[in-house]
Amino acid sequence: MVIQAPIPPSYGRSVAERSAAIVDRTLGARSTFTIRPVRATDRRALSDFYAGLSPASRYMRFMGFSAGIDELRARTFCTPDHVHEEGFVAVLDKASPEQIVGHLCLQPYGTRKLELAVAVGDGFQGQGIGRQLITAAISWAEHQGYEAIAATAFADNWRVLRLLSSAGHPAHVIPAGGGTVDVLIPLRAALD
Ligand SMILES: CC(C)(COP(=O)(O)OP(=O)(O)OC[C@H]1O[C@@H](n2cnc3c(N)ncnc32)[C@H](O)[C@@H]1OP(=O)(O)O)[C@@H](O)C(=O)NCCC(=O)NCCS
Repeated sequence: MVIQAPIPPSYGRSVAERSAAIVDRTLGARSTFTIRPVRATDRRALSDFYAGLSPASRYMRFMGFSAGIDELRARTFCTPDHVHEEGFVAVLDKASPEQIVGHLCLQPYGTRKLELAVAVGDGFQGQGIGRQLITAAISWAEHQGYEAIAATAFADNWRVLRLLSSAGHPAHVIPAGGGTVDVLIPLRAALD
């Protein structure tokens, strides 16, 4: 497999064009959001995002109890090498300071696969942010020549299972014990 060079800034711009209208269900405020690759300067906003998730959403995201991410994890999430690992955030447009409302990370899993994990702020769920994050992730992984994306979720996490199973690629859902499932999404490099 050929792992291509880090994506040029133009890739980030094309991802960022996927902007759409949403409502903050907690505050009732209307806004739009943009999907873009994560940056080193996102550390504070990303920590705030995870600290602000409901305990139930954090439990599903981290597959266990968690208060959020510590400084080291924030740095790791915000400084992927953009070749073997990547991250995307959904940010509210025109918010100051910048507000992250969704985060997806892709980390190496074996030699030709990536492991995906994703979360969307509770007040913003069910409005397409997760789907756009997954679309950006699949597009990036295919561009880089990866063969598959894998994810682990609780077997009753229908939201993420529905999302991963309807991402435009056939998804294999495999029981993994302990009330969890592994999801494997083969990409173009494996299907060609
Ligand atoms: C899973 C998660 C990331 C989905 O993000 P999202 O932005 O809510 O997802 P989307 O709005 O793009 O919706 C995806 C699908 O799920 C459905 N859905 C998601 N949230 C929903 C909600 N609150 N109510 C009803 N349907 C919902 C949508 O109908 C959509 O299906 P469709 O496009 O076929 O209609 C989000 O629910 C979340 O952060 N959950 C907690 C963390 C988690 O479980 N992470 C997964 C670990 S791998």
